[in-house]
Amino acid sequence: MKEESDAITPESIDVSASDLVVIGTPVWAFKATPAINGAIASLRGCNGKKAVIFATCGSSAKDTLPILKKALEGKGVIVVGQFVFNRKEIEDGQKIKVLIDSIIAAKNR
Ligand SMILES: Cc1cc2nc3c(=O)[nH]c(=O)nc-3n(C[C@H](O)[C@H](O)[C@H](O)COP(=O)(O)O)c2cc1C
Repeated sequence: MKEESDAITPESIDVSASDLVVIGTPVWAFKATPAINGAIASLRGCNGKKAVIFATCGSSAKDTLPILKKALEGKGVIVVGQFVFNRKEIEDGQKIKVLIDSIIAAKNR
């Protein structure tokens, strides 16, 4: 709710050797979880990297992805795909395939 970050292990996540960053979070109180906020704060070597982000929720993700996107853009990350899965959609193989295909496409772009 307050967009706080949990301390995570490892303290820093170096993605400089990665082609693409993929971050998913459950939605808590219409926002990302403290662990995911902590993971984003811990990202290193991410300037100029592409990212695909997604959230799972019961019914509404509301501000989750816009807030996540802004935090990533603040670290120089370019968000190229965004997906929300509600309780029903998480069982939807077609929608999951669209997410996976977009990850593969972004990696190869
Ligand atoms: C503390 C808490 C807060 C939640 N807040 C929301 C919410 O604001 N909106 C929503 O649609 N779902 C909410 N949910 C449901 C979760 O987003 C959903 O259960 C989760 O995405 C499923 O992933 P999981 O199996 O990893 O928990 C909340 C769940 C918990 C435990």
